[in-house]
Amino acid sequence: MASHSFLFLYMLVTLSLVGMAFSDLDDDFYDDVCPKALPTIKRVVEDAVRKEKRMGASLLRLHFHDCFVNGCDASILLDQTSAIDSEKTSRANNNSARGFEVIDKIKSEVDKVCGRSVVSCADILAVAARDSVVALHGPSWEVKLGRRDSTTASRTAADNNIPTPLMDLPALISNFKNHGLDEEDLVALSGGHTLGFAQCFTFRNRIYNETNINSTFARQLQANCPRSGGDSNLATLDPTAAIFDSKYFSNLVSKKGLLHSDQALVSGGKTGGFVKEYSKNLRTFSKDFAKSMIKMGDIKPLTGKQGQIRVNCRKVN
Ligand code: HEM
Ligand SMILES: *[C@@H]1O[C@H](CO)[C@@H](O)[C@H](O)[C@H]1NC(C)=O
Ligand SMILES: *[C@@H]1O[C@H](CO)[C@@H](O)[C@H](O)[C@H]1NC(C)=O
Ligand SMILES: *[C@@H]1O[C@H](CO)[C@@H](O)[C@H](O)[C@H]1NC(C)=O
Repeated sequence: MASHSFLFLYMLVTLSLVGMAFSDLDDDFYDDVCPKALPTIKRVVEDAVRKEKRMGASLLRLHFHDCFVNGCDASILLDQTSAIDSEKTSRANNNSARGFEVIDKIKSEVDKVCGRSVVSCADILAVAARDSVVALHGPSWEVKLGRRDSTTASRTAADNNIPTPLMDLPALISNFKNHGLDEEDLVALSGGHTLGFAQCFTFRNRIYNETNINSTFARQLQANCPRSGGDSNLATLDPTAAIFDSKYFSNLVSKKGLLHSDQALVSGGKTGGFVKEYSKNLRTFSKDFAKSMIKMGDIKPLTGKQGQIRVNCRKVN
C-alpha cells in the first residue's frame, strides 16, 4: 500500500516537472472562464473559409509569422503607431499577410460570448490556424492555450526571423533550428504550402532561371508571371490549394515545387527522406504536421502575468 502511494506521488511530481519543462500552456485553459470561446472561434473561421477558401491558408500563415518573431505573442497583429514598429510592413508581410479582419471579427465575437476580454489574440491565432486546417480537410490537434499578448512589435525582428523563399536548405535548417525546430519540423511545416497562393515576384527567378524544375511546369507558370511586371499575380503553392493533401510533396519529388525554398527540401538526405515519405503517406504527413504545429505554437509564449490580454488585437491596451 505505502509503496503504491509513494509510486503515485513520484509519478505525479515527475509528470508535473515534465509538464513545466515543456511549456506553461495547456489545452483546457478556457474551459472554466469561457467554455464557448473555442466553438466561437471555429464558427467564425468556418464562415470565413466558406466565403473564401484561401482565408484558411492565410490564417495558418499568420500564426507561423507570429510565432517566428519573438514567439507566439500576437505581435504580428499590432498596427503601426509612434510607439509600435509594426511587423505588418516587414519584407515577408507587406502586401502579403492577410486575414487581419477575420481575427478582429473572431476577437469581437469571442469577447461577446465570454462577456469580457479573457481570450488572448495569440491564442486566437493558434486556434484559428488549427480550425483553418480542419476546414480544408486537414488533421486536427489539441491546441495548447494560455498565451498572452505582447505590448511590442518589431519589423526588424520580422525581417530577420521569417525565412525567405530564396533560402537554400542550410539556411532553412538553421532558421528553424533558431526557433527550436528540427529538420522533420521544417519539412512537415513546409507542408503548410499544400494550401494557398504565392505572388509572381516570390518565384520568378525559379521559373526562368533554375534547372531543377520541370520545364513544362515552368512554362505554364510563365504564362501568368512575366519576366517583368505582374509582380502580384498569383499561382497556387500546390495544384490543390484548398485541400490539405500530400500533393505539395509529390510535386517536390517531380521537380514541381513553386518556391526555391520548397524545392530545396529535396536537396538534403534527411529532409529529402521526409519529403518522399510524406509524398506517399498522407497519414504520416498529417500526424507529423499536427505534432510540429503544437511545437511551433510553443515558441516562447508570454504566460502568467507577462504581457496582457489585448481588448483590440491591433492595439496595446
Ligand atoms: C520554410 C520556410 C517558408 C518560406 C520560405 C515560406 C515562404 C512563403 C511565401 C514566399 C509565400 C507566398 C507569399 C506571397 O506571395 O504573398 C508563402 C505562402 C504561404 N505560406 Fe509559407 N513559407 C515557409 C513556411 C511556411 C510554414 C511553416 C507555414 C505554415 C505552417 C506556411 C504557410 C503558408 C501558407 C498557408 C501560404 C499561403 C498564404 C495565402 O494564400 O494567403 N509557410 N510562404
Ligand atoms: C509596403 O508596401 C507599400 C505599398 O503598398 C509601400 O508603399 C511601402 O513602402 C511598403 N513598406 C515597406 C516598409 O516596405
Ligand atoms: C536570371 O538570372 C540572372 C543572373 O543572375 C538575373 O540577372 C536575371 O534577373 C534572372 N531572371 C529572372 C527572370 O529572375
Ligand atoms: C514534366 O511534367 C509533365 C506533366 O506536367 C510530364 O508529362 C513530363 O514528363 C515532365 N517532364 C519530365 C522531364 O519529367
